[in-house]
Amino acid sequence: MKVTSFLKVLPVAVALGFFMSVYFPIAITPKLQCGILPWSSSFSVNSSFSDSSIVARLWAPFSNTTTSNATSGVARNPQGSERLPPRIVVSESDLHLRRLWGSPTEDTPTRKYLLALAVGYAEKVNVNATVHKFSDNFDVMVFHYDGRTTEWDEFEWSKQATHVSARQQTKWWFAKRFMHPSIVAPYDYIFLWDEDLGVENFSAEPYIDIVKKHGLEISQPGLDVTKGKKQYDITVKRDAGEMHKTDAGGKGCPDVHQRPCSGFVEVMAPVFSRDAWRCVWHMIQNDLIHGWGLDFHFWRCVDDPEEQIGVVDAQYVVHHAVTTLMGKGNKANTGIGAKVKARCTEEYATFRSRISDADKELANSTTTSSSTNTKLITRG
Ligand SMILES: *[C@@H]1O[C@H](CO)[C@@H](O)[C@H](O)[C@H]1NC(C)=O
Ligand SMILES: *[C@@H]1O[C@H](CO)[C@@H](O)[C@H](O)[C@H]1NC(C)=O
Ligand SMILES: *[C@@H]1O[C@H](CO)[C@@H](O)[C@H](O)[C@H]1NC(C)=O
Ligand SMILES: *[C@@H]1O[C@H](CO)[C@@H](O)[C@H](O)[C@H]1NC(C)=O
Ligand SMILES: *[C@@H]1O[C@H](CO)[C@@H](O)[C@H](O)[C@H]1NC(C)=O
Ligand SMILES: *[C@@H]1O[C@H](CO)[C@@H](O)[C@H](O)[C@H]1NC(C)=O
Repeated sequence: MKVTSFLKVLPVAVALGFFMSVYFPIAITPKLQCGILPWSSSFSVNSSFSDSSIVARLWAPFSNTTTSNATSGVARNPQGSERLPPRIVVSESDLHLRRLWGSPTEDTPTRKYLLALAVGYAEKVNVNATVHKFSDNFDVMVFHYDGRTTEWDEFEWSKQATHVSARQQTKWWFAKRFMHPSIVAPYDYIFLWDEDLGVENFSAEPYIDIVKKHGLEISQPGLDVTKGKKQYDITVKRDAGEMHKTDAGGKGCPDVHQRPCSGFVEVMAPVFSRDAWRCVWHMIQNDLIHGWGLDFHFWRCVDDPEEQIGVVDAQYVVHHAVTTLMGKGNKANTGIGAKVKARCTEEYATFRSRISDADKELANSTTTSSSTNTKLITRG
């Protein structure tokens, strides 16, 4: 019985692309295969992908976090699952590690928030310091771009984290592939951070309190420019209050309603609400892996950008701006920094023209035919 349901789920997991080198270091690495795991005989899985990850993935359908709306009587399954009786449909999952034994109902619960970090081992001291600023209310996911994964086990928290490894890939590449809105649906807030942030004066729980209090759907901690770098004035930490939403009055902001003067945070340390992330994920282009220009369009993902996007001053960070993927700490890429930068610039231009073309197409369809409107809006 169980074997059959596992087998049905497996092709789905394959199709979703989870069979990259993903592994979950669970405290007891399960060499026992329970005798019911079908892939041990019929699938040849390479060693970079440990058995435990498959277990974790297949466990997910039994999670209880959400199902389709079965109580209303006219339940509608998510697209593709129409053949299933609605009560068995679990359309969302999480990144929380589970045990292999005991009752699933007694496993530790999925955490309220998610911290996702793109890291290289060279930055381990800073990454460790960062993770320690996040409480037990966070599930942690680590994206490794340098192929070094098990080394992190020297840190206790690493054993409870989900690790995803793919060489020379960017934070946005990982986020597009491993943070699908349905996978991160249980988390109220998602921190998608770089590894090079100084966190001495940052703490995640007080940060979230401020974000909730001010209704910020997208936010970032202010930048302490006495110790680190800044690119825009609006993200600089202020001393006046616990957060700010605009650079009104700042030089270079003749129109405070334009980015980056209001409704703006940068790509290095954004924090998204669940709903905002669901939208931002769709805006991330699959091929534009550097994510340049996304920050200038985060505003599209909230109702009222000037009210719902802000910079938290009371919890702030230092941006060290270590160019990890382009050179330092990343031997494989040494010397190609200029080429990487050129691609960034090109991607930025591509993204801008794509989004402006899409705007034009939508506007045109609105004026020419209101009947095609809905179709265009709901697309992808
Ligand atoms: C996995 O791949 C590596 C290199 O591609 C190879 O040496 C190794 O034998 C493979 N392992 C299995 C279990 O197929
Ligand atoms: C279920 O459907 C009812 C009626 O259509 C709706 O009011 C309710 O919000 C739905 N619940 C969920 C969880 O989608
Ligand atoms: C699963 O859902 C049922 C009904 O909604 C609920 O009573 C039960 O507590 C849930 N179990 C878990 C582990 O969340
Ligand atoms: C990780 O960071 C914590 C808190 O800053 C510190 O106490 C601990 O010693 C660090 N661990 C390692 C292995 O450096
Ligand atoms: C920031 O952190 C450092 C190191 O813990 C501390 O010395 C300093 O007083 C803090 N600054 C503020 C404004 O809290
Ligand atoms: C607007 O849409 C019409 C019909 O689809 C098309 O023929 C026309 O070229 C479009 N105009 C622009 C400016 O995209």
